[in-house]
Amino acid sequence: MNSTLIVGSQFGDEGKGKLVDCLAEKSDCVVRYQGGNNAGHTVVVNGTTFKLHLLPSGVIRKKRSLIGAGVSLDPRALKKEIDGLKEKGIEVNLGIDPRTQLIMPWHNVIDIGKEEALKEKNIGTTRRGVGPCYADRASRIGIRFDDLIDEKRLKEKIAFNYSYYKNVCEKILGKEFDFTEEEVFKQYSALGKEFEKFLVDVSLEVNDCVEKEKNVLFEGAQGTMLDNDFGTYPFVTSSHPSSGAATIGIGLAPHKIKTVIAVVKAYTTRVGSGPFPTELAEEEADVLRNAGNEFGTTTGRARRVGWLDLPMLRLSHRLNGFTELAITKLDVLSGIKKLFIADSYTLNGKKILDFPYSNHLIEKSIPNYIEFEGFILAEKEQQELKEKGFNAMPENAKKYLAFIEKQLNVPIKTVSFGADREDTLKK
Ligand code: IMP
Ligand code: MG
Repeated sequence: MNSTLIVGSQFGDEGKGKLVDCLAEKSDCVVRYQGGNNAGHTVVVNGTTFKLHLLPSGVIRKKRSLIGAGVSLDPRALKKEIDGLKEKGIEVNLGIDPRTQLIMPWHNVIDIGKEEALKEKNIGTTRRGVGPCYADRASRIGIRFDDLIDEKRLKEKIAFNYSYYKNVCEKILGKEFDFTEEEVFKQYSALGKEFEKFLVDVSLEVNDCVEKEKNVLFEGAQGTMLDNDFGTYPFVTSSHPSSGAATIGIGLAPHKIKTVIAVVKAYTTRVGSGPFPTELAEEEADVLRNAGNEFGTTTGRARRVGWLDLPMLRLSHRLNGFTELAITKLDVLSGIKKLFIADSYTLNGKKILDFPYSNHLIEKSIPNYIEFEGFILAEKEQQELKEKGFNAMPENAKKYLAFIEKQLNVPIKTVSFGADREDTLKK
């Protein structure tokens, strides 16, 4: 297995958490490298559901779990997550890089205030303050994990940021702070004391693991189409969910990552605003949404749903360099009579295979669909899959999967057909 990266190939919520949990069994450590608690990873173990936002999904297997410098870390959210796991009998074995940027209370105020100012053009963010936190990193006023555990530095940095953003929020966004500078300092310095034990140079630790040929799992958050540069900008997240981000988000050379597993949901979903060429209209969407329980893990919002989109996956493959595919939620398509996959678009009268680079072109692109006969993957068929493996896959499902494999020219090595760990097929 060695060094394996899991990347979301679509708009996030592809089922990365479940896959990471499965692979974590044989891993020595699991590392998050971008995003923050805007992510929502659901893992079901023997009927118990774990919802993680910030911690690497390997924590459930009690594996060494690392948060790299590229993550935006809300220590308040971290505390909640760690305490929640403790209640379920799980002690985390966690390391946090000192360079990791912190989400501060004003980042939430800015996230919400900006969205309100954008009115109907809002992005539909998760309002977790992730974007404003990364903005501070770029403008070099961010507060890092290293500062959290040093009271003097923390006080100084909070003093500057608090008064700066109080001004911005009140005068520009019309938002009052409902917390004082002293309250923020008290809360954060207490968290710093509690989390001091987690400080470790994650870059050193991960490089050392790779050097010793241990099994390292890199856990991407969100999906490639939400990439800050290559996604449907501005309707994207503020980090790079694509595979390259692992190198700068951990501090690791690119050639150290051997396997890139693309998590591809058998259809497409999106939460938040922005273009979505294969999106289904309401009544049709309801069927898939309810069957797939497509409601956000982080915000509870109903996800937009649509057919599988190959131009999108081609772009995703180009950016990430997939070495294998993991198809998830295949069971959700069970019972739908006709299935569709967009194999190309028509743009200005021309057939195109690749996803356009800008929203004004994406909006004019009309998907061309290939029709597939439906299949049944209900309880009985799922049981057979578990017992007999891939050969028991319904013929029509095999055709659907073979088409994806052929079009992308990447082998499918995993198929997931249910939320539980056991509902997974390896090829
Ligand atoms: P932000 O990351 O909270 O700034 O939100 C920006 C966009 O990314 C919004 O459309 C969100 O719905 C979307 N987004 C952020 N995190 C996730 C995720 O983990 N899954 C799916 N969508 C996400
Ligand atoms: Mg999610």
